[in-house]
Amino acid sequence: MNVSDSELMFGVLERAGYARTDDPAVADVMLVNTCAVRDHAEQRVLGRMGELKRYKRPGDVLGVVGCMAQRLGPKLLERVPQVDLVIGPDGYRGLPELIAQAQAGERAADVAFKGWEHYEDVPAVRDNPISAFVTVQRGCDYRCTFCIVPMTRGPERSRKLADVVGEVARLAAGGTTEVTLLGQTVNSYHDGTYDFADLLRAVGAVAGLRRLRFTSPYPTDFTPRVLAAMAETPAVCEHVHLPVQSGSSRTLKRMLRRYDRERYVEVVAALRDAMPGIALSTDIIVGFPGETEDEFQETLSLVEQVAFDDAYTFKYSVREGTPAVRIKDHVAEEIKTERIGRLIESVRRVAKRKNIGLVGTTHEVLVEGRAKRGELLQARTRTNKIALLDGPAEWIGTYHRVRFTGTTGSTFTAWPLEDFAVTARSEDEAAWQ
Ligand code: 5AD
Repeated sequence: MNVSDSELMFGVLERAGYARTDDPAVADVMLVNTCAVRDHAEQRVLGRMGELKRYKRPGDVLGVVGCMAQRLGPKLLERVPQVDLVIGPDGYRGLPELIAQAQAGERAADVAFKGWEHYEDVPAVRDNPISAFVTVQRGCDYRCTFCIVPMTRGPERSRKLADVVGEVARLAAGGTTEVTLLGQTVNSYHDGTYDFADLLRAVGAVAGLRRLRFTSPYPTDFTPRVLAAMAETPAVCEHVHLPVQSGSSRTLKRMLRRYDRERYVEVVAALRDAMPGIALSTDIIVGFPGETEDEFQETLSLVEQVAFDDAYTFKYSVREGTPAVRIKDHVAEEIKTERIGRLIESVRRVAKRKNIGLVGTTHEVLVEGRAKRGELLQARTRTNKIALLDGPAEWIGTYHRVRFTGTTGSTFTAWPLEDFAVTARSEDEAAWQ
């Protein structure tokens, strides 16, 4: 979501005549887009501000934007004297004016929620010509007790289906073949007329679009309509990121999640039924207030039971202003550290077991770029597995059929199947090439 918001900010600023640089030494305006979801993220922002303020020359503007700016608001101006500008997620449209104000020596802040704001007229400036994030819903109406997002991003609202389809059609016309729809609870999307099932079908029908992903869905918002749309829309990829947060029904209740363990497992079964072979990843919090060893054990057993392909694991982080702060029996830091260690081990073991079972299977991959190390290319399957393969640089941005030849436990090595480019070329493929 923050990557997508940064792309909008580039759009706002480019339209106002700004040119982009990644070098703080030459920048007249430095903006730090921030996350507030955990304290760790905020500490990193403060570290980055410390670095950037050294580059500030007289007349330069240093701004903090995004969720941390929204959360701390004008307090940030007091706390970091070098900061001139504080703008929350609904205020990016005003960037040029607020920058001008700051340049005139007046420190500026805009942290008002604007429930109508979708930046509909702002052309996002994207780096990646192959794959794009498209925000379809902003804000959040759920009230998970650990989460700061409802307080930083405000109430939930969805873009109009036709606006989303229009943007995706423009992207596809420009050669983008993969789109990820974004929203805090993306499958609760509803624009007043159309729901998420309609959205998947409409976006999936855009000519040239080959891969459709979305993140993050809320487990109990997978209605039969949405499941059917997923199953019947060929572009929808066989991967869902399905945040569970905990495997313990008691903990889930204190988190104010709208499901218990059994219900979550039912949703998993419904997804697997609708899309055989679907890969599932998740988010898990350890050490939520009051979490006992037994409750944590239930999270470990859920990881085994569901057999997630991957999981992002977090130690519970106290967020001032959220209801969980007031829950009794906060878990000691050492216990959180110890639990997350055991959880990561369990997640890796389960993923490795699954991935070893995939060696020898064939997949369609999108070649995304060069691997970070070495000469190989990095590619991704529809199921979101990363595969490294040998091939020419011209393959970047194109689709190939490969066989997995080995795995590190998390990523794969793959061998291109020579004749695929000829045999599997469809009309659709001709359209995007
Ligand atoms: N502490 C730890 N993790 C959190 N998350 C959200 N809020 C907190 C918090 N206070 C995690 C959740 C969510 C992911 C984006 O961040 O797992 O799904």
